[in-house]
Amino acid sequence: MTTYERVLDQIASEQRTWLVTGAAGFIGSHLLENLLMLDQQVVGLDNFSTGSRDNLTLVKDAVGEQRWRNFSFIEGDIRSLETCRKACSSVDVILHQAALGSVPRSVDDPITSNENNVSGFLNMLVAARDAGVSRFVYASSSSVYGDDMRLPKVEANIGRPLSPYAVTKYVDELYAHVFATNYGMSMIGLRYFNVFGPRQKADGEYPAVIPAWISSMLNNETVYINGDGKTSRDFCYVDNAVQANLLAATVQKQAAVNQVYNVALNAQTSLNELFELLRGLMAPHHPQLRTVQPVYREARKGDMRFSRADISKANRHLGYHPVCRIQQGAEKTVEWYVAHLRAAPANKPQVLPRGLVAAEAVDLDWGSCLPAEAVEVAEVAAG
Ligand SMILES: NC(=O)c1ccc[n+]([C@@H]2O[C@H](COP(=O)([O-])OP(=O)(O)OC[C@H]3O[C@@H](n4cnc5c(N)ncnc54)[C@H](O)[C@@H]3O)[C@@H](O)[C@H]2O)c1
Repeated sequence: MTTYERVLDQIASEQRTWLVTGAAGFIGSHLLENLLMLDQQVVGLDNFSTGSRDNLTLVKDAVGEQRWRNFSFIEGDIRSLETCRKACSSVDVILHQAALGSVPRSVDDPITSNENNVSGFLNMLVAARDAGVSRFVYASSSSVYGDDMRLPKVEANIGRPLSPYAVTKYVDELYAHVFATNYGMSMIGLRYFNVFGPRQKADGEYPAVIPAWISSMLNNETVYINGDGKTSRDFCYVDNAVQANLLAATVQKQAAVNQVYNVALNAQTSLNELFELLRGLMAPHHPQLRTVQPVYREARKGDMRFSRADISKANRHLGYHPVCRIQQGAEKTVEWYVAHLRAAPANKPQVLPRGLVAAEAVDLDWGSCLPAEAVEVAEVAAG
C-alpha cells in the first residue's frame, strides 16, 4: 500500500470539514470532487472571477446528489476579511487555491494581482489563525524560482522574481513562514508547475497552453508556438496536484510541516513534443488535424526556456509519487475537451495568422519568466 492509498483510507475513515478556496476554479474543483468522493464535508469559497458555476455543476454530476449535500458554497471574495472569517469558522483544514493566476495578467495589472494574491492571502491567514484551523495548505508556484537557471529546480535555491505574479507567490511563502513562527500555525506551500487537466479554462484573455491549443485545434484555428518549440516545461496532470494537497493536509511529521514543496513530475516536455502529443491524440476524433502544423513566431519576452522540478523533497517528506505521467494525463485531458468543447465543422477553413489572436496571450507559464538575454545561458545550462 502506498502512502497516498493509506492517506485516502485515513481521510475516508473520519469526516472532517475542509475549506477549499477557489473551489469553482480548475484545481479547486478537482480538490472539491476528490474530497466529496471521500465523504468529507467541504466549504467552498469563490468569487467566480476566473472560476465558473459550470465547474461546480460538473462536480455535482460527478459525485451525485447525496455527496453533494456535504458541500456548502460561499460566493465571496478573499479580499474581504469578514468573508474569510465566515468561511474559516468551523473548518478543520484549508486548501487555499483562490488567486489570480497568470504571469502576463500580473504584468498587465499588478495592483489587482497583488490585492487578490497578497492581501487576500493575508486575510485568509488571519482568519485561519483566529479560527484555530489545524492545517493551512496553499498554492504557491514555480514562478518563485525567478531568474535562477539551475535545473532541476530545488526548493532551497530560488532566484529573484521576474513578474508581479511571482512576487505575490513569494510574498505568500514569506507570510506563511512568519505566521508559522509567530502564531504557531501549521502551514504547507505547494509550488505547482504547469498543472493541466479537465476543467482548466480554455478561453478568456489568459488561457494556459494545453487547453488553449486543444481549443484551437478543435476550432481549426492556428496553433502558435512562441520561439523554436524547444522550450520545455514540467507539465503536471491535476490528479498529482490533488495527491500533493491531500498528503500535505494530513502529514504529521514535524519536519514535514512549515515547508514548501515542488509539485510536478521531474520531466521535461518541449512545446514541439507537446504539439505532436496533442495532435496525435486529437487526430482520431478530427482527421483534418493529421496534417496540421503549428506556426512559429518570435519567442515571447520573459518566457523561461526550460523548467523541471526536483520532487525528491515532496517524495521524502510527504510520500508524494506522481502517478499520472504526461501521456496518460494528456489522453484524459483531450478526451474531456473533445467531449465538452464544441468542435468546429471539419470543413471550416483554418484561421490564418493575422494581428493579435487569442493564442498570443497563451500563458505557457504560470511560473517562472526569464529576461530574454538569460535564455541562451539557460539553454547551455540545461544542455
Ligand atoms: N494551474 C497552474 O498551472 C498553476 C501553477 C502555479 C500555481 N497555480 C496556483 O494554483 C491556484 C489555483 O489555480 P487554477 O489553475 O485552479 O486557477 P483558476 O483560475 O482556475 O482558479 C482560481 C480560482 O480562485 C477564484 N478566485 C480568484 N480570486 C478570488 C478572490 N479574490 N476571492 C475568491 N475567489 C477568488 C477564481 O474565481 C477561481 O475559481 C492559484 O493560486 C494559482 O496561482 C496554478
